[in-house]
Amino acid sequence: MPSRLRWPVAGPGLDGRARLAYGADYNPEQWPRQTWRDDVQLMVQAGVNIVNLGIFSWAQVRPSESEWCFDWLDEVMDLLHAGGIAVDLGTGTSSPPSWLTAKYPAILPITELGVTVSPGGRQHWRPNSPVFREHALDHVRALANRYGKHPALAMWHVSNELGCHNVHDYSNDAALAFRLWLTDRYGSIAALNSSWGTAFWSQHYSAWEQILPPRAAAAPRNPTQQLDFLRFSSDSLKAYFRAEAEILRAATPDVPVTTNFMVMGNTKYMDYADWAADVDIVSNDHYVLAARPDGFGELCFSANLVRGIAGGDPWFLMEHSTSAVNWQPVNVPKAPGQLRRDSIAHVAHGSDAVSYFQWRQSVAGAEKFHSAMLPHAGTDSAVWRDVCQLGATLRRMTEVAGTRCEPAQIAVLFDWQSWWASELESRPSALLHYRELALEWYTALCHLGFAVDVQPADADFATYRMVIAPALYIVGDQLRTRLESYVADGGHLVATFYSGIVDDADHVHVGGFPGALRDLLGVRVEELAPLLEGQQVRLDDGSSASVWAESVTVARSGVTALLRYADGVAAGAAAATRRDVDGGSAAYVGAKLDPPGLLALCDQLTGLAGLHPEQDRATARVVTRRIRSGPDGRYIFLINQVAEPQTVATEPGVELISGDDVTGSVTLGAYGVAVIRAARHPGKP
Ligand code: GAL
Repeated sequence: MPSRLRWPVAGPGLDGRARLAYGADYNPEQWPRQTWRDDVQLMVQAGVNIVNLGIFSWAQVRPSESEWCFDWLDEVMDLLHAGGIAVDLGTGTSSPPSWLTAKYPAILPITELGVTVSPGGRQHWRPNSPVFREHALDHVRALANRYGKHPALAMWHVSNELGCHNVHDYSNDAALAFRLWLTDRYGSIAALNSSWGTAFWSQHYSAWEQILPPRAAAAPRNPTQQLDFLRFSSDSLKAYFRAEAEILRAATPDVPVTTNFMVMGNTKYMDYADWAADVDIVSNDHYVLAARPDGFGELCFSANLVRGIAGGDPWFLMEHSTSAVNWQPVNVPKAPGQLRRDSIAHVAHGSDAVSYFQWRQSVAGAEKFHSAMLPHAGTDSAVWRDVCQLGATLRRMTEVAGTRCEPAQIAVLFDWQSWWASELESRPSALLHYRELALEWYTALCHLGFAVDVQPADADFATYRMVIAPALYIVGDQLRTRLESYVADGGHLVATFYSGIVDDADHVHVGGFPGALRDLLGVRVEELAPLLEGQQVRLDDGSSASVWAESVTVARSGVTALLRYADGVAAGAAAATRRDVDGGSAAYVGAKLDPPGLLALCDQLTGLAGLHPEQDRATARVVTRRIRSGPDGRYIFLINQVAEPQTVATEPGVELISGDDVTGSVTLGAYGVAVIRAARHPGKP
């Protein structure tokens, strides 16, 4: 695999000069030929410089087994090139054509209940089907041959959102591949039996052939089998990505290969921290969930995590929406200003691209009510005007491209496997939501004015002054040692309840909780203590806890209680503790605190660690502030999250969008954005 290529990439609109990419998925096959010229003209008007083409074009390129139809795609590629628009070319293998599924129904996935998934939607293929793979890879080869040298080609886009609909397949193809994966992982059936704890409920295996994917069963299924199946499923799609990428890289070694990740609230089952090294540019899709009051905070959290898995390199926002989507229960359009706010928030968190689903709003199909850059209403519309204005704004911000986010003092750790394992069917509480808990900590710290990074647990967190580990359920020997060294070297670790509970095989660390982290944190918990829905416990600072309230016992010297329960069965017992360790510290939080309680505790913990917020607390709740910098400039992004105007203090400099000089403060209108090139730059005299 080549080392990761950096944006900018080749292509007519992106000819080696750094710039922010701007564009969308472009699906010309949904439109008559005469529309294509208008499209390109309008793209130029909007400032579009790249489109993601051919994402779902398998059936148009190969309408039947014996027929290839490249003419239309040739024409579109040429038109785009003539317009100066680069192409991120989709391999188109996400949605298999009808001739293929009719001839080979065995490529269709099987659900855990044994139901065959029918064609009629999209992504109806088994990640481990050899037949699917053979045909899909043929298709990729044909595209690579045809377009590898096309001057519009800037990037390859493998499939689309791998695993969005088909990540868990329970077919016989999956069973065969799962056994191979397990053989590789365990080497012997005895090792597998031991890891899966099959002495329980008579689940012992005496031959590999007996092992199945965790299909629907009479009682809760073996948790390690389930966890391994989730690992295997993520690995299967990664292997599939590699198979396509290998063909593309062989044909065009200089063209970067990506696939769009889905780091967003409702997508869980691809371990992107583990995938990231395989793509040349990390790209991500993100959609705000309109019903969430903290939808914008969730956007920032996700974008931040994408930056984390990209190792801090600039990344590519492949999809988001100009306005409403079509797949939420109620699809609310964005309020005036939100389009720009949301797009630039991704740039503030390290994206060098702003790309939407999709260019022209469909008139037919399941996504006809999904917004686009060019809406049903046409160019006489607020969305179109906002789209054109954003194109101009991004041009004015060009110099930001290629810079990196300045690292924060604090990192929240995020671990896909702890997420999966902590939410399997057999666990202490269905009310504990891993990602939501991580988001709560992130939000509280942001509200205090801290810049916070979100980092995968295997990232190098040694440089952070404080590391938060919310429900870091799986802690194996390696991670334990890394956390211990972090604290020994002066870091401030904060771990919550349900951390350190099991090893990598999902076996409990015995002797009391939080298991692997018990010594480091200097506490001991005898029983995990979730609360029933609606149940609350008061704490001695006047806040309350819900969902979880453990009675924490101090187990070594140097540990002090920061919070105690004021009522409930654990009244008087510690709920949060802190152990001082030669300059560093290890704090434990045994309860899920309400927002004021969490804010107060974060304030106390950061204060004790000697951290000072980067941002004025009065505005931190409503204004997001992130800084990107490079050798030539330092850029302060200020984003008003709300409709009420805000005036915020800032370093002096030049605001790139307006071109105005900024002295001590700046006023942001409804959902307003300012990007200030700071007058002072540490790298420059
Ligand atoms: C993504 C997908 C796009 C489109 C979009 C709608 O999941 O990649 O093709 O369906 O959602 O929001």
